Amino acid sequence: MKLDRLLAKHQSMGRNEARRRILRGSVRVDGEVVTRHDQEVDRFSGVTLEDEIVRAPERRLRILLHKPVGVVSATVDAEHTTVIDLIDDPDKHTLHIAGRLDRNTSGLVLLTNDGNWSKRLMDPAHKVDKVYLVETRDPIPREAVAAFAAGFYFHTEDLTTLPAELEILGERQARLTLHEGRYHQVKRMFHRIGNRVTALHRVSVGEFRLPEDLKPGEWRFLAKE
Ligand code: URA
Repeated sequence: MKLDRLLAKHQSMGRNEARRRILRGSVRVDGEVVTRHDQEVDRFSGVTLEDEIVRAPERRLRILLHKPVGVVSATVDAEHTTVIDLIDDPDKHTLHIAGRLDRNTSGLVLLTNDGNWSKRLMDPAHKVDKVYLVETRDPIPREAVAAFAAGFYFHTEDLTTLPAELEILGERQARLTLHEGRYHQVKRMFHRIGNRVTALHRVSVGEFRLPEDLKPGEWRFLAKE
């Protein structure tokens, strides 16, 4: 919301009066004087007028979680433990998941109450890298590298997957980097080369890596930018 609107709303004053106060230097956002009436202020910023609180900031939560196999990437589930059940914070019910993992996949899950942040992470246009360690039932042939780079046509969505980097680490092990996140994408890609994923683990999403010392089931807040 723009600063003048927010001030007018919370102080029951007209928009013009709000603009005058802002221009006069009486309004602070997160402690800094702001004189532009059209500055966007989200709910995670605190606003004061002549040192009186106009609107207190909400806590911005950004969480890294090491999801164990068997836990569902959902906020509620009648049958299984959810990623939210693993978190111990009074505001955990405000969280949503920025990119789900299947129940039998382990690794990095990001959770937040900041919709702008999760939107950026999940927006296909931003092409945020996701890196997975994969184990397969059958040996992975060398030709798979070119096939993953060329992309696979998915009939259901009528799209061809973006070039993906497959790095063969062992006879049945690989590291796969995707630049998008389609439904069951990794499993479907291996299925297309006649193989099957037997274990899947996500190690990173964009710049966020699963910390080595974060054990399955553990979580931590992301440090402030
Ligand atoms: N691709 C899958 O098939 N499953 C996941 O959990 C993540 C990516």
